Amino acid sequence: MNIPLQKFALALCLAAGAAASPAATITIACGSTSNELEVCKKHADAWARRTGNEVKTFSPPANPTEALALYRQLLGARSTDVDIILIDAVWPGVLKDHLLDLKAYTKGAENEHYPAIIQNNTVNGRLVGMPWYVDAGLLYYRKDLLAKHGLSVPLTWAELGAGAKKIQAAERAAGVKDFHGFVFQAKAYEGLTCNALEWVASWGGGTIVEPDGTISINNAGAAGALNMAAGWIGSIAPIGVLNYGEEDTRGVFQNGQALYMRNWPYAWALLNAPDSPVNGKVGVAALPRGEGAGAKSAATLGGWQLAVNRYSPNAEAAVDLLLYMTGPVVQKDRAIKGSFNPTRPALYGDADIARANPFMANLREVFANAVARPSTVTGLKYPSVSQSFWDATHDVLSKEAQGEDATRRLEGKLRLIRRGQW
Ligand code: GLC
Repeated sequence: MNIPLQKFALALCLAAGAAASPAATITIACGSTSNELEVCKKHADAWARRTGNEVKTFSPPANPTEALALYRQLLGARSTDVDIILIDAVWPGVLKDHLLDLKAYTKGAENEHYPAIIQNNTVNGRLVGMPWYVDAGLLYYRKDLLAKHGLSVPLTWAELGAGAKKIQAAERAAGVKDFHGFVFQAKAYEGLTCNALEWVASWGGGTIVEPDGTISINNAGAAGALNMAAGWIGSIAPIGVLNYGEEDTRGVFQNGQALYMRNWPYAWALLNAPDSPVNGKVGVAALPRGEGAGAKSAATLGGWQLAVNRYSPNAEAAVDLLLYMTGPVVQKDRAIKGSFNPTRPALYGDADIARANPFMANLREVFANAVARPSTVTGLKYPSVSQSFWDATHDVLSKEAQGEDATRRLEGKLRLIRRGQW
């Protein structure tokens, strides 16, 4: 065949152009624990192969307070370094101006998630994030040790304290050095806000700022709850908890050095990994009740969403990856491999997920009634509100203040932050 050279060259160009239809490189934030990163990378790579795009993953700081600072800096500078970011349940109102409104792209996918989470991700009618997983605070306990010492799972903090004291003394006497009754997250960061809100709400002490904007923290229940927790430090909990985040507590508990641990669902998969010293020895329950008229079990509501950087030059491809990552296939795999609670009601009927995570069905009520932090009502001011709360709590835990004084002073500080309106 004798094709004129010019025509041949043109045909080649067209063919090359079609095959290489502009491939995008999408950078996605993937989470911070090792198995989480692995699973995230696997799925992101599968999406890249299928769509012909390229994916880069990056691991944001595990401490959400540090991650928020990083994102505020990046997005404030309109950086395009990261296309898809992971946002905490308390951030939509803080980062809203820098996040793409996903509504135009989702084709109704948001209707497959729990409406309350979609609502939380919607700011002024803009859908700024798609839910990835939902969190609630849980009590992890050593089934074997409770049985050995003839105790049952505590229903009140007082029972938890008594059991922790008894078993801590017995295990230490039996030669388990560095054994502790209870570990939780009390470093000065967002995680302490989550722990302390559980103590306060469990004493009927409200949610720091109520949904109608009332500053409620200065009350006897809240003060009593903080004083109770201060009493644990150096007795049933190591002084070191004042500097513990989630992974520090998991390390101690997984090593067999604690009876009780407060943590989120992700810990379940890691505690039961084949090489975990406590594999098969752990139970999960609702957190204990406090004292007083409004006493109840309270778990802080948490969870993470994927959101698209508004300045991303590849918004369309980024949303495509985001929808795949928040879709049923990836959420199911993450639930089984990493015990991340799905945000899709349909997945709660899935037998494989239920088998891997019995607590998801057993503790449905804990998730359904989880207590939200006051991020919606305080909007952009939430980070200051939360920091003031965790600072006040940290002072009480470090025995630098009594609960009553700390909550009174905190009320004054929150008034200043509110300045008339939230
Ligand atoms: C978990 C929760 C998140 C919370 C954080 C605190 O990641 O999902 O909502 O802010 O813990 O450390």
